[in-house]
Amino acid sequence: MNCNYQDLRSSHPLQACWDLQLGGLGADALRVALEYGVFDQLRQFTSARHTAEALALDQQATSYLLELLWCQGLLERNEQQPALYRNLPTAERHLRAEADDYCGDALLFRHQVLRQTGSQLGDYLRSGMATPSASPQAIARSWANAARLQIAQEQRAVTTELACALIERLPECAQLERVLDLGGGPGLVAIALAERLPNLTGVVFEYPEAAAVADDNIQRAGLGERLQALGGDLNHDDIGSGFDLIWCSSVLHFVDNLPAMLRRLHAALRPGGLLVCCQAEVPSERDAAAQVLPYYLHMRLQGRHVLAEGEMAHLLQGAGFSAVQQLNGLRFPVTPVNAVIARRPQG
Ligand SMILES: C[S@@+](CC[C@H](N)C(=O)[O-])C[C@H]1O[C@@H](n2cnc3c(N)ncnc32)[C@H](O)[C@@H]1O
Repeated sequence: MNCNYQDLRSSHPLQACWDLQLGGLGADALRVALEYGVFDQLRQFTSARHTAEALALDQQATSYLLELLWCQGLLERNEQQPALYRNLPTAERHLRAEADDYCGDALLFRHQVLRQTGSQLGDYLRSGMATPSASPQAIARSWANAARLQIAQEQRAVTTELACALIERLPECAQLERVLDLGGGPGLVAIALAERLPNLTGVVFEYPEAAAVADDNIQRAGLGERLQALGGDLNHDDIGSGFDLIWCSSVLHFVDNLPAMLRRLHAALRPGGLLVCCQAEVPSERDAAAQVLPYYLHMRLQGRHVLAEGEMAHLLQGAGFSAVQQLNGLRFPVTPVNAVIARRPQG
């Protein structure tokens, strides 16, 4: 009898499909844990029974959920009977409602967008791309709500750190005096930059209701003398001029006419000024593309600008920018982004 079972251990070709299907359940486990405040109970090693009692949940189902979260890498398990679970650092820092860098609302919002996109995919295939059904006022209002909650959480936990690290490494950093944070949501990037660079003044440009959110944050940070929140529609309204730096992250997806907007950004810089544009582009390499494509499917189906890798740099050159540099794969909320740093030529 042949006692070598190795051939029976290689995975079946269908395993790739079965693995794909697991993604949805993992996402639901995270959603439920956030909605029920499970991570709030797990600062110390705790049993499923204690967790279930504290949250008035079923004990057996809670033990299965904790096991799932453990094997997903969010909890650690102390191997005793009964098993005890505790938050791993990511859960402790970002998934506990009381944590400074809590991102639960942002994650729940993303979950909802992804699930909705998945459930509507068949409709899109049959009927074609969506035309925005919400009114411009409703779109602006939902951005203001996002500025209060999920964008603020992501800026606090992820975006400001990356933005400051990137800008502090620019050779021009010490000379920067006037910044435009275009489509800056709650304005935390402009605030963090102003806190680090004492000579910096500037503007957060946003839809009026989101600009009011940014203004609250600016006043709370005691920066009302140096930063202004300016409300308007960046497709039509004056965004100001004479800037040394324009920071623009994940905004240009939404503009009506991208080449025209890039020419306006060029005109808004003083000669020698810098545009730092951070946004996802679709990588040509498969594994990198797999990180980007699912998250941006809903935007592509809505006809937003989701560019291929290198396309933004090319468009910026066409708009008159020079010394265009590109940094790929920077860590950012949801998917890695490419930063394109471009200069308005002197004179
Ligand atoms: C995905 S969010 C990015 C926010 C911020 N830049 C960041 O990276 O955290 C896009 C932002 O662009 C703003 N925005 C989109 N279209 C706009 C328009 N036509 N006028 C003004 N702001 C706009 C939205 O209100 C929203 O805050």
